[in-house]
Amino acid sequence: MTTLPPFIFATCQSGVENVLKREAARQYPFLRPAFSRRGFVTFKFADATQPLEGFRFEAVFARAWGFTLGRVEVGDQAEAARQVWKLIGEIPVRMVHVWPRDSAPPGRSDPDTPWPDEVEQIRSLISAAAPESVNLVAPDTTPRRGLRGQWVLDCIIVDPDEWWVGIHRLEGPETFYPGGRFPLCLPEHAVSRAYLKMEEALRWSQFPVPPNARWAELGSAPGGASQALLDRGYEVLGVDPAEMHPAVLKHPKFTHLRRRTTQAPRRAFRKIRWLAADINAAPNYTLDAVESLVTYPQINIRGMILTLKLPEWTLADRIPEYLERIRSWGYNVVRARHLWYNKQEICVAALMRPFKRKPVVVRQKARRKRPT
Ligand SMILES: C[S@@+](CC[C@H](N)C(=O)[O-])C[C@H]1O[C@@H](n2cnc3c(N)ncnc32)[C@H](O)[C@@H]1O
Repeated sequence: MTTLPPFIFATCQSGVENVLKREAARQYPFLRPAFSRRGFVTFKFADATQPLEGFRFEAVFARAWGFTLGRVEVGDQAEAARQVWKLIGEIPVRMVHVWPRDSAPPGRSDPDTPWPDEVEQIRSLISAAAPESVNLVAPDTTPRRGLRGQWVLDCIIVDPDEWWVGIHRLEGPETFYPGGRFPLCLPEHAVSRAYLKMEEALRWSQFPVPPNARWAELGSAPGGASQALLDRGYEVLGVDPAEMHPAVLKHPKFTHLRRRTTQAPRRAFRKIRWLAADINAAPNYTLDAVESLVTYPQINIRGMILTLKLPEWTLADRIPEYLERIRSWGYNVVRARHLWYNKQEICVAALMRPFKRKPVVVRQKARRKRPT
């Protein structure tokens, strides 16, 4: 068994470091913030506490996290690569992930900018310097079940002359990719960037959505997210008072309800089992709209992908309350993540497992008494 070091690191969007630290303080009072830079935060287990084998840092704003082994000062990169393996020691790692912290000015992160070529060069250099006993597999484009639970060597380029080295286990699909960044690019036909947000949410949540599933999206205009659903073969009911892009409107599996959610007839949702929401309003407004649907007697929603906008970052402190509210509607698998393609907002994935439809209430007509 690997002895775990009493330090962890997390990478996040530039500018949300303090949000992440507050979240950690709430959830893990035994963690103390240590070294941090924009987009990169570390914590120390305080008061001689030690991480146990099953420890997970489940923080919404950590796009990637791992145990910290130390830092390497970089002069000659080949020498630095050898130093990386000294820190790894006997830990049986199966993959090498290298990524840079997000050093953009706060609020200016561009999720589309590819990492510099040097990142891949450093990964190759570190992989080539692996001791013979190490059996590495290439970073994969599809998470492989057989690798679950295995260790990954993490090298975060904090500065060109400073690499931080750590390890994480391969678990959820996002852990298979350096920095938790899914390999996505916007298809040419996409009408809005929300396409990528939806695609990332679907890959991260791994919901058991059957082919031909029926979705409704609240806040669907102009239609990028709906397109991501349509491209997977699903039917989509888009609910939005604004205009949809003509390319989405003409899709045979798309229907537009040009109304606010509150004005949409409930019968339109009777066959819908999956719900997405991307309304540009405060979280409680979106949650009110969603609640009015999922708690309606004849509506049966199995799973949801909700974007909750955070017009103020301080609203992040209320995320546990938002998730509790969603659980109270009968969703027992509820997770949140600050996706790579989220700006000042988070994604919530909620699933009812097992799925239970509401009982059908048959109203009996009152029998009239026959006159005797
Ligand atoms: C961020 S945009 C949605 C982007 C969209 N998901 C896409 O993929 O292109 C937010 C949308 O929410 C819509 N909206 C605001 N209030 C709404 C409500 N009560 N019901 C439905 N849509 C609403 C707005 O008209 C706007 O089009």
